[in-house]
Amino acid sequence: MVLSGIKWVDTDTGTIDRNIFYNDEIYQQELEQIFARSWLFLGHESQIPNPGDFIQNTMGEDPVIVTRGKDGKISAFLNSCRHRGNAVTRANLGNTTSFMCAYHGWTYDLEGNLISIPGYKELYHDDMVVGTRADWGLVEVPRIESFYGLIFANWDKSAPTLREYMGEYAWFLETRANPTGHGSEINGGIYKWTMDHNWKFAADNFVGDGYHAGISHKSATLVGHRGTNIGGGNLQQQQTQQNAQFSRQANPDTFRLATKFGHGAGLNLRPVDAPVSSPEGTSKLMEEYQQFRREESAKVLGANQQRVSGFNAMFPNFSINSSADQIHLWHPRGPLATESWVYVLVDAAAPKQVRDELVLGASRHFGPTGMFEQDDSDNWRLSTTGAKSVIGRRHPLHYAMGLKYNDWMEAKEDLPLRRMGSLGDTNQLNFYRHWQEMMWGKSWEEMQAAGFNPV
Ligand code: FES
Ligand code: FE
Repeated sequence: MVLSGIKWVDTDTGTIDRNIFYNDEIYQQELEQIFARSWLFLGHESQIPNPGDFIQNTMGEDPVIVTRGKDGKISAFLNSCRHRGNAVTRANLGNTTSFMCAYHGWTYDLEGNLISIPGYKELYHDDMVVGTRADWGLVEVPRIESFYGLIFANWDKSAPTLREYMGEYAWFLETRANPTGHGSEINGGIYKWTMDHNWKFAADNFVGDGYHAGISHKSATLVGHRGTNIGGGNLQQQQTQQNAQFSRQANPDTFRLATKFGHGAGLNLRPVDAPVSSPEGTSKLMEEYQQFRREESAKVLGANQQRVSGFNAMFPNFSINSSADQIHLWHPRGPLATESWVYVLVDAAAPKQVRDELVLGASRHFGPTGMFEQDDSDNWRLSTTGAKSVIGRRHPLHYAMGLKYNDWMEAKEDLPLRRMGSLGDTNQLNFYRHWQEMMWGKSWEEMQAAGFNPV
């Protein structure tokens, strides 16, 4: 049964029902209606450069293998044998010519075809009985597309193309995925850890919540913590001088962007005359790289686009934190648990030493060792506890900051339609409204035909 028509999210009043953060029935419906129908990040092409390379990820809770076939083509399959359902590989990554299930030995090639069955002649009498071998290959994810090397996939054949789905979010993501025209690469491994919070609190934070930074991260910034900050702003100053951050909201170079399918960002444009600044404690080479990045970006990106940085998220569970170029994925693991994955994305043109410094700086910032990550995730844990509370769940949450305030700025030059100021709850409401439409089972066709009327 699909819970439909229940108004969990009220964009007129700016309130959200806390049931959506703890209820298991709602969670199960999210796996069906959100994660089995949305474009989800699977990895980066640089993780599987050679034929036979593969990585694992999950789509919702479903395990998938992403392979590069003999012809170089990238595909994704459910990591579940068609015989008794065992995983066909337990490795997180590797290179292979085939996947042999370790239960009874059914074997699949890189294209998912069932190529070998032990005892097929003697035991099966050369007969599958039900269909043919071609019917019993690995279940393939039907839609897979890349954006400057970032691989996304979707189980829903009727979904729009990845670019259509991204909308104006692509304008931002390009600045991270292809900053100097040379593409990007994943540098090093993936941090993975599990926290006791609903996945949406993390996405909610990244899609629109710049408001928390001055309070949540104050202790980290007061002790002098600064991450790598390619954006060029002074993060420490922004986060220790809260009032300065609030008063800057009336500046048109600070704005928030919300897109049709729930993505959003709170962004700043670096002043045109801002000097190149390297993070403290980094090398001369880093300073030279920052200069190079600035110059090259100006050639390949739009005049405003090349100056943009800030927080952001792509619905439902992807973000790239532009102060450290870290990809965040929030994998749902039940209504009360999230498995976070963090990757560091680097400009493919960055020298090795610069990459190492970027990874080190990023790891101090976000990921399990990151000071900001620890601040954030503990807040989400306690927000989840609050939603679980019998009394707490009777009371909705307030998401009305800036809701009735008319602060729209029309698209101009290479800037999309946006609202002045990076702080406000409208991005989150836009995110949750799309979440609700997906949950109600609206078809992609219906959602596309409805046009975009941002919160
Ligand atoms: Fe895979 Fe039996 S479960 S071969
Ligand atoms: Fe934060």
